[in-house]
Amino acid sequence: MNPRRILVTSALPYANGQIHIGHLLEYIQTDIWVRFQRMRGHEIYYVGADDTHGTPIMLRAEKEGITPKQLIDRVWTEHKTDFDNFLVSFDNYYTTDSEESRLLSEDIYARLQAAGLIEKRAIEQAYDPVKEMFLPDRFIKGECPKCGTKDQYGDSCENCGATYSPTNLKNPFSVISGATPIRKTSDHYFFKLSDPRCESFLRDWTQVSTPLQPEARNKMREWLGEDKDGDGPKLSDWDISRDAPYFGFEIPGAPGKYFYVWLDAPVGYYASFKNLCQRLGLDMDAWVKAGSTAEQYHFIGKDILYFHTLFWPAMLQFSGYRTPTNVFTHGFLTVDGEKMSKSRGTFITAKSYIDTGLNPEWLRYYFAARLNASMEDLDLGLDDFVARVNSDLVGKYLNITSRCAGFLVKTFGGKVDEAALADPLVERLRDAAGEIAAFYEAREFGRAMRVVMELCDAVNAYIAQEQPWTLAKQPEQAAKLHAVCSIALESFRLLTQYLKPVLPKLAGQVEAFLGVAPLAWADTCKPLSAAQPVSPYSHLMTRIDAKRIEALLTANRESLPGGEAAGADATAAIEPIAQEITIDDFAKIDLRVAKIVDCKKVEGSTKLLQLTLDLGEGRTRNVFSGISSAYAPEQLVGKLTVMVANLAPRKMKFGFSEGMVLAASSADDKDPGLYILEPHAGAKPGMRVR
Ligand code: 2FM
Ligand code: ZN
Repeated sequence: MNPRRILVTSALPYANGQIHIGHLLEYIQTDIWVRFQRMRGHEIYYVGADDTHGTPIMLRAEKEGITPKQLIDRVWTEHKTDFDNFLVSFDNYYTTDSEESRLLSEDIYARLQAAGLIEKRAIEQAYDPVKEMFLPDRFIKGECPKCGTKDQYGDSCENCGATYSPTNLKNPFSVISGATPIRKTSDHYFFKLSDPRCESFLRDWTQVSTPLQPEARNKMREWLGEDKDGDGPKLSDWDISRDAPYFGFEIPGAPGKYFYVWLDAPVGYYASFKNLCQRLGLDMDAWVKAGSTAEQYHFIGKDILYFHTLFWPAMLQFSGYRTPTNVFTHGFLTVDGEKMSKSRGTFITAKSYIDTGLNPEWLRYYFAARLNASMEDLDLGLDDFVARVNSDLVGKYLNITSRCAGFLVKTFGGKVDEAALADPLVERLRDAAGEIAAFYEAREFGRAMRVVMELCDAVNAYIAQEQPWTLAKQPEQAAKLHAVCSIALESFRLLTQYLKPVLPKLAGQVEAFLGVAPLAWADTCKPLSAAQPVSPYSHLMTRIDAKRIEALLTANRESLPGGEAAGADATAAIEPIAQEITIDDFAKIDLRVAKIVDCKKVEGSTKLLQLTLDLGEGRTRNVFSGISSAYAPEQLVGKLTVMVANLAPRKMKFGFSEGMVLAASSADDKDPGLYILEPHAGAKPGMRVR
């Protein structure tokens, strides 16, 4: 078999959020396919990167008080750790904020320009006059033009379901500054998808030359419309520039204009590959330039089909690059039949899964068992997850070796009876290799798993029938016992080979235990040898305890950032509980009842009030507090409150602050109120709060 040359990608996650199980569905799907191809001996590279540019990332960094670069560096490390934990075997994991990415984006843009496919024109857009930036639609809110519900995004109403454009919102406001957006004109750069060359290329690429999934092809037909002469362009031009301030690459020759994040995101696939090629000394052009004979596949979710089957192939086609061999699209993940939900705790992050002590290979197996090549949504049924993993992996697959390996080691020094391995059962398992490989190749992982489990059933039935535990009590049956255990172990070796793309870590442990080299697909015909004895069996995988799933949901309910939760669903209203501390940690904070003996506005500050506090120390303390929006000074004078008394004094613009008063506030923007604490009657200044 001639080795194929294959470049594979998964969608690049944004660098401002955590990896969750919805992401993992795709990375695990891709990784299984990639690992299978590696086992087949093909030259395959799997590349990924963080998608780092754009307004949300810029604003998120600003909110955290760090630079975008600091944010994306931190998130890169978090993402990489998650991928490593879930055994996602990228050959290179990179970033779109790289020199390779900039150069490739500029090159593709320059070539599109030379081909006459870039056009500059002025457009009018919403602009935040306070923040001095143009506002993407999702940063504008207002009242629904139909039912009047407040606080609705610019595209649709959550209450009545009406759809509209942000210009239709009543009393619109910028989510960033609260200001009323104005309309402002600026020059934008467009990729002319309406050009007849693009339309005709895309019609051919999506309908004839690429074996897209049927659902994807239909979608394309819908977007491209009927092919009728003289009825004008079907596709709109694509706006590929954004105005400063923007975190991204400035467009050459266009000061203050930046490539829109969705232009340099897919280029990031090539940038990551370029970085890998440099490291490995590969000739990148032979892979990515027009005429390349390598294969190129993009695994994506159905929400970003448009970008990968219209924009990206057209960008490549008209800039001298090869176009994708195919785009493999999956559906969305639901949990227990419903959309992932922060309030239910089913918005499960990769980190929480690991921190709860769950085994990543359980999830890999479950996804494999449920995946097929279609764009249908996939449900993670939590009870089903527990039942299936326990029954298939522990009850069926591992049961084979746990019932036979001990006898082989104890009675026969771990050496198999080679002659016994010509048994019809072993033949049956060996013969299944082709069918299983075809299912892997076609991304029909669920069907592959079904075949493997049927084979496990057959081997378990054989063991149940031969009863090695009974044979072991009959010395005259030693030869039979040897044959039965050898057949079971060779079956186990084959089953491990078939499961290895899904369970690579477990397969590695089995390889060590069987004393075999890393299993490749051609090893179907390399049976266990008596020359290499099997080691004593050690436990390979535990069952899932359903209690852990409860803990996982609880962890995800609790770890919600308040703002995000409120946006996702209204019931998850409170800020997450902070990391656990000990009583000793708490004891370090000296909280005291304090009397507010004086309170003044601070000239030059809109936020601060200056408090004079008496703790009964024989002196008063000066404390600045950011509560001016909530209290007039006269409301506070004479009241008791609670303060942190042992906080190191802090020099502020207006003087020293010698402590901090406590106030309750909500993490989201819905209630901007501040509420200072006041003890019940009877409390005296100086009393410790513990
Ligand atoms: O939808 C997303 O999460 C994007 N960050 C995916 C980008 S995929 C590719 F084009 F880079
Ligand atoms: Zn409405």
